[in-house]
Amino acid sequence: MDARGTATPFSTLIRTASHQQHTEAENSTFMSDLLGGRLGMDAYARYTEQLWFVYRALEDAADALRDDPVAGPFIQPELFRTPELERDLAHLRGAGWRAALTPLPATAAYAARVEECARTWPAGYVAHHYTRYLGDLSGGQIIRDKAERTWGFARKGDGVRFYVFEQIPNPAAFKRGYRELLDRVEADDLEKQRIVDECRRAFDFNGAVFRELGAEFPLSA
Ligand code: HEM
Repeated sequence: MDARGTATPFSTLIRTASHQQHTEAENSTFMSDLLGGRLGMDAYARYTEQLWFVYRALEDAADALRDDPVAGPFIQPELFRTPELERDLAHLRGAGWRAALTPLPATAAYAARVEECARTWPAGYVAHHYTRYLGDLSGGQIIRDKAERTWGFARKGDGVRFYVFEQIPNPAAFKRGYRELLDRVEADDLEKQRIVDECRRAFDFNGAVFRELGAEFPLSA
């Protein structure tokens, strides 16, 4: 913060810093093809499987981080997605979904980094938490709508439960509260910069997962 106390809020800093990568993620070949209705349900299921590894890493860490001064306030059970992902996967893949589940190399690296942050650097975990959950509460709703139309899932039903936050009736208000939490993170400027860098890294991991999914599901021209 400068002498007049007019420093950019941290929530603005982190959003601005990832803006470019956000656009890249939205325009990635895999996302464009998926949301353009050009891929089959199998590609959507494979993507949902990748998310399961990431959210398990995020949410398995919750108990250990609940009392952490930096990451603790972000641990909010209404965000948890693992049970919803598991219901979606049972719908998409059948009861035996877990036996066939494999992470792509990029997904394994992503989940490993989340676990590492959770164990050794809670502020870094916050960067990963932000990148996923705030995105799910925002663009996730666009993805849900497209998925329902493209593959015929029941509105907010099995297959798209991941995108439905039953316990967050007002996502806009929740996001405002979340940004306040970000603004209250106790960290000096250097540490905030490191968190922003980790957020960029989180976007990179997502981009790498999209690239590998794109390679697995090329469009037959
Ligand atoms: C096609 C895919 C996507 C679409 C259509 C999309 C769309 C959006 C939209 C409309 C917002 C709302 C911004 C606001 O509330 O003002 C948003 C925010 C956000 N998205 Fe995405 N998004 C997509 C992919 C992603 C991906 C892959 C990530 C990272 C994993 C991501 C992370 C975020 C984050 C962190 C925010 C919150 C920004 C902030 O307010 O701080 N999004 N997205």
